[in-house]
Amino acid sequence: MYFDPDQLDGKNVYKLITSTVLPRPIAWVVSQNDQGRLNAAPFSFFNAMSGNPPVVALGIGAHGQVLKDSARNIRESGEFVINLVPFALIEAMNITSIEFEAEVNELEMAGLATLPSTKVAPPRIAGSPVAFECRTLQIIDLGEMRSIVLANVVAIHIDDEAVLDAERCHVDVRKLDLVGRMHGGGWYARLNELFEQPRIDLADWQARGR
Ligand SMILES: Cc1cc2nc3c(=O)[nH]c(=O)nc-3n(C[C@H](O)[C@H](O)[C@H](O)COP(=O)(O)O)c2cc1C
Repeated sequence: MYFDPDQLDGKNVYKLITSTVLPRPIAWVVSQNDQGRLNAAPFSFFNAMSGNPPVVALGIGAHGQVLKDSARNIRESGEFVINLVPFALIEAMNITSIEFEAEVNELEMAGLATLPSTKVAPPRIAGSPVAFECRTLQIIDLGEMRSIVLANVVAIHIDDEAVLDAERCHVDVRKLDLVGRMHGGGWYARLNELFEQPRIDLADWQARGR
């Protein structure tokens, strides 16, 4: 089937994108305003764009004609923490996605404890096995209050339990038990069906004589 985004309603284009680009990792963003008021919300228009330098991207929409609290805080302070979401915290993550008023601290509403960050002001979520402390690199405005935030990862925290070899930076990915967002309003994926497909270098390929 052929679909032309120019001929479709925006909601339908959104459905086609979010039910095909799967699963999407979830950035559980903790930010704070200039009075230090904390905010947390999940964003699945998210991925790592570069490993070295470590750069991540977030796509943040709008509440009607108003910036989302996370977008406003990131614009004001240039700092935030991306926590990754383990299966154990899926309900808490869902609570933090409720469109509460700006004064509400979603971390409190979801009963989440925090731990201090090392290089940025907003804290990280205690139960999250991975947290990236981020500083904004660039904000690309997409119109209608939507934007892409590109950020440098300035500090990385990984649960000790999930680190196999700290010197070699080997992580036990199964221990992280992370979830990804799927389609519709409430579908998620748990990464329980892993398989290996080793890379082939050019010399190997040529040795096969094909
Ligand atoms: C799993 C999940 C992923 C989400 N991803 C996005 C996203 O990528 N971009 C976005 O603008 N909103 C996304 N949302 C909605 C926001 O989390 C929601 O609008 C939230 O209230 C924003 O909070 P804030 O105003 O405190 O920043 C997502 C919600 C859920 C549950």
